[in-house]
Amino acid sequence: MIIASNFKTNYTRAGTKAFVQAIQAYIAQAKSRQQVRIFAPFTALDRFGEHDNLKVGAQNFYPVQSGSYTGEIGFQQLEEFRIESVLIGHSERRHLLKESQAFIAQKYDFAKAREVEIVYCIGEPAEIRVQGIDAVMSYLWEQFEGIDVHYDRLVIAYEPVWAIGTGLSASLDDIDDVLSRLRAKLSKPLLYGGSVKVDNIESILHVKACEGVLVGTASWNENAFCEMIRIADHVNK
Ligand code: 13P
Repeated sequence: MIIASNFKTNYTRAGTKAFVQAIQAYIAQAKSRQQVRIFAPFTALDRFGEHDNLKVGAQNFYPVQSGSYTGEIGFQQLEEFRIESVLIGHSERRHLLKESQAFIAQKYDFAKAREVEIVYCIGEPAEIRVQGIDAVMSYLWEQFEGIDVHYDRLVIAYEPVWAIGTGLSASLDDIDDVLSRLRAKLSKPLLYGGSVKVDNIESILHVKACEGVLVGTASWNENAFCEMIRIADHVNK
């Protein structure tokens, strides 16, 4: 399974290095079978000499190799650190940073052409959720506009906006309902994200179509993140 941490706007360069080293040591000692991802801030990217099953990824990029885009990071800067995994479509970028679906699709095509792993995030806000599952699914399908769902290195993360950073995860029934509807049409790994923590990760990983998690807040403590990896190793999937 894929167990991913999204650092968001947390951790310094030194703190990230210590975190990555601690997770590397844990994975080696526990002989973990999980595919672990750590989406670090740009300023903390480096070559960490990761194991095959641990990759440090980028939370964002501007869809250019290089050029004149003041304040942006292109692929030349990611390639320096051999970044092989990127997040695209996170709700904080869609809603707070106002990224349009057209721009997200442009970023997707750019990353796809560079053959990196794409963790593509989708999720509905609370006002859509209250309208019921049909409204939720049509909202989610719209987030696939312009996205090649057959791309080899695509991973999809379902993160309901109302569950992100609130401490209130979606219910297991809601996760199961959405993931199984996605699974009926998509053949890529499906992750869940939104208030995943040590206390609920096991039951979430038992949801049939769930193949991993994308964790924010609860993963920022390295012991808790190791514990989540340990629990995933004990879920027989
Ligand atoms: P939380 O785990 O803090 O809810 O964040 C989830 C998330 O946005 C991961 O990308």
